[in-house]
Amino acid sequence: MSVNPIGIFDSGVGGTSIWNEIHALLPFENTIYLADSKNAPYGNKSKEHILELSIKNTELLIAKGCKLIVVACNTATTNAIKTLRNNYDIPFIGIEPAIKPAALKTQTKAIGILATKGTLSSELFHQTTDLYSNGVQVIEQEGEGIVPLIESGKLHSQEMNALLQVYLKPMINANIDYLVLGCTHYPYLMPQLLELLPNYIKIIDSGEAVAKQTQTILNQYDLANTFTKKPTLQFFSNANPEVMASLLNGKYQVDYLDF
Ligand code: DGL
Repeated sequence: MSVNPIGIFDSGVGGTSIWNEIHALLPFENTIYLADSKNAPYGNKSKEHILELSIKNTELLIAKGCKLIVVACNTATTNAIKTLRNNYDIPFIGIEPAIKPAALKTQTKAIGILATKGTLSSELFHQTTDLYSNGVQVIEQEGEGIVPLIESGKLHSQEMNALLQVYLKPMINANIDYLVLGCTHYPYLMPQLLELLPNYIKIIDSGEAVAKQTQTILNQYDLANTFTKKPTLQFFSNANPEVMASLLNGKYQVDYLDF
């Protein structure tokens, strides 16, 4: 058993959607969240650059004593997790677009995936899609511009609505019945998505699965915190602590940290 914190990082504030799931399932675990908002978005960067940033975040979390790291970013997972697992001696949990369940459940044989360029162009994404999309049309859409709007506090804006309308239209026209959210920032768009999409289209993301996998791995490595006392929950941003604090409904303190 270990009382050390779970480390979580993302290119910015979006990974808090994963933190929410982890904290709901594992309420007594101490956590440290890093939002690398200064370097967001990761989605348009080269694989080498994404790897370099992921290593920087990982080393800070390890220096802070984290026992396990959740890469709460599809772009960083699909481009860097293999190297992180090879280079560091602690368990890593990653997040990938939920192509498999969508492809298994679709009735219309068409699914949509909204993700960053970095995720959609990654080898890991192509492998997963090739493996599970047999006979299913996968409509891929880059969510260009969405992450910067969320990072600058414009989640509920006209600009966001306009972007979403453009991105969803081809998917609706292709008769998708599942939309996969392939970026951890996107669950925060749920109210707008529900409004813009016909109600037969179901939206899925991987947040809950990541939390369950975190629990499984903690137990497997005998790293779970079995104390039931109030945990220490730390949030650090290197650019916009107030945007993250507001996404967390003002319930937690978010500190600026230069990293
Ligand atoms: N939250 C990241 C993801 O899941 C956003 C990537 C970006 O910064 O472009 O992919």
